[in-house]
Amino acid sequence: MKKQIYIALDVKSKDDAIRFLKINQLQGVPVKVGMQLFYREGPELIKELKGSGHPIFLDLKLHDIPNTVYQSMKSLAALEIDLVNVHASGGLDMMRAAKDGLVGVCGERAPKLIAVTQLTSTSKEMLSKELLIDRPMEQVVDSYALSAKRAGLDGVVCSVWEAKQIKESCGESFLTLTPGIRLEDDDAHDQKRVSTPSEATYSNYLVIGRSITKAKDPKSAYERALREWNYEHRKTIN
Ligand code: C5P
Repeated sequence: MKKQIYIALDVKSKDDAIRFLKINQLQGVPVKVGMQLFYREGPELIKELKGSGHPIFLDLKLHDIPNTVYQSMKSLAALEIDLVNVHASGGLDMMRAAKDGLVGVCGERAPKLIAVTQLTSTSKEMLSKELLIDRPMEQVVDSYALSAKRAGLDGVVCSVWEAKQIKESCGESFLTLTPGIRLEDDDAHDQKRVSTPSEATYSNYLVIGRSITKAKDPKSAYERALREWNYEHRKTIN
């Protein structure tokens, strides 16, 4: 399985994104485009990034009634992105509808579809006090991952700390994409369940934003993350 680090392009505009990638010589690296950028720049940005050879994770976290998600995924499928996501809390029918929308347009070449289990900014306290979910975080995440698998999705977005359990429950080939990554000594900011690349031994993909984009030298931060991640992976395999 190909392992990739997606750099989160959490910037204001297309120009900022393209400039950031160019100045830092990050040609062709996998990038994550989220709501901030996509709502402003739309499909044109995706076309431009694709044209420059960047694999794209479109992180829009769809969550609506099944028919709306089905129709929206049909629109997104036309963008020829590599990865896209929904919230698992939207339910089985919604997740199935999302998959049907993508496969209906792209067939076997459909983007991989993954589900957000719980955001890495959600703490255990929030889960019980605000969302009124009284089960432990691990159990909630595991159950959402199993639903995503039942709905025919390719994997989940989860924290590094949940990836091992998810692989055990859903199988080795079920993909885990993990945000909430910080290089050693970096600030956690608003993330609650953070970890370093070396700890991400059960992740197929990492998403890293501020630890790379706010680094003094983003290219070397990206390369360092790749190095540390690959090194630990090799140790686990050998
Ligand atoms: O800067 P930082 O590395 O915290 O950025 C993480 C990125 O991953 C953000 O763009 C955030 O929206 C995204 N993300 C996340 N947690 C999820 C899904 C996506 O932090 N569960």
